[in-house]
Amino acid sequence: MQTQFRGKHFVTLRDWTKPEIDTLLDVSADLKRDFAMGRVNNSLENQTVFLMFMEQSTRTRNSMEAGITQLGGHGHFIDGQTAQLAHGESAKDTAIILSRMGHAIAMRYCNWGYGNKFITEMAKWATVPVMNLQCDLYHPMQAIADLMTMQEKFGRNLQRLKVSIIWAYAESHKKPISVPLSQVLLFPRYGMDVWLAHPKGWELPDWVIAEAKANAEKYGGTVTVTDNEEEAYRGAHIVFPKNWGNWVNDQTGLQAAGAVKVVDEKLMAHRSWKCTEEKIALCDKDFAYMHALPADRHNEVDDSVIDGPHSIVYDEAENRLHTAKAVMALTMGGRGGAHM
Ligand code: CP
Repeated sequence: MQTQFRGKHFVTLRDWTKPEIDTLLDVSADLKRDFAMGRVNNSLENQTVFLMFMEQSTRTRNSMEAGITQLGGHGHFIDGQTAQLAHGESAKDTAIILSRMGHAIAMRYCNWGYGNKFITEMAKWATVPVMNLQCDLYHPMQAIADLMTMQEKFGRNLQRLKVSIIWAYAESHKKPISVPLSQVLLFPRYGMDVWLAHPKGWELPDWVIAEAKANAEKYGGTVTVTDNEEEAYRGAHIVFPKNWGNWVNDQTGLQAAGAVKVVDEKLMAHRSWKCTEEKIALCDKDFAYMHALPADRHNEVDDSVIDGPHSIVYDEAENRLHTAKAVMALTMGGRGGAHM
């Protein structure tokens, strides 16, 4: 088992080997069991993780804050609008200074073309682990929780399961591409048959599809991209119908800030891309419905589906806690607060 993680950044799962991800899943399951048993784990006693948020969050913020508290440490919330980041303080200065004051730096920054660059630059200068809480490209905390939930439901071996990541209509806000992008890169590493379905105009970047297909070839699965929604639902074992924004025509840097118009004619033309009873009837009889949440109910999905017997969205959301704790427990300094 791979166990050498102290100081390792968690910016993208592309930087984590499969044995490392497997350890992360093992530790997540251990921490979930401990939590259920009421067993105290103070492995990060007196340690501080800085939690910088440039955008809103329910699951990510609370899984990190509750998680570090449960490990004996402290989560220090930093609102990006009231920190000097808002006046343009650099990633380098922010990372060096926070490294001297605590044990990890975590950040959500989804603005297209800015978020990943900023977090990656912090990782270059930080002397403590840097964790990506979602950027314009990646959401590794979500992807690892998804994988844990899928293994709980279908067993450790996910080889050849048909898993469909399906674009869905939504009006609530412009969503980054980081969730489907992270999923389509990660799932083929576990040998699944991954389908990516979306209307024309909501493509993920070409390099993502190329890397996903290379992963599938290496690990014995497949990646299929289609604009046929029904084909993606047909026989699927797991479906992820979820909206994502259009990065191709919307590179203003405002994509995730809600500052661009959400509903336009192009989007409205695909209002039928909604997860309904008729569509899930095409799935395997034991399929699972998953969603990173928040869901745009009545637009992305009917209540009868998300509240129905195949939905495992609350397990998926709960696993955000256990996986976030595993990331912190493995990468931060351990008892005594030793860090790089
Ligand atoms: N899935 C997810 O990241 O949820 P939040 O935006 O509430 O953190």
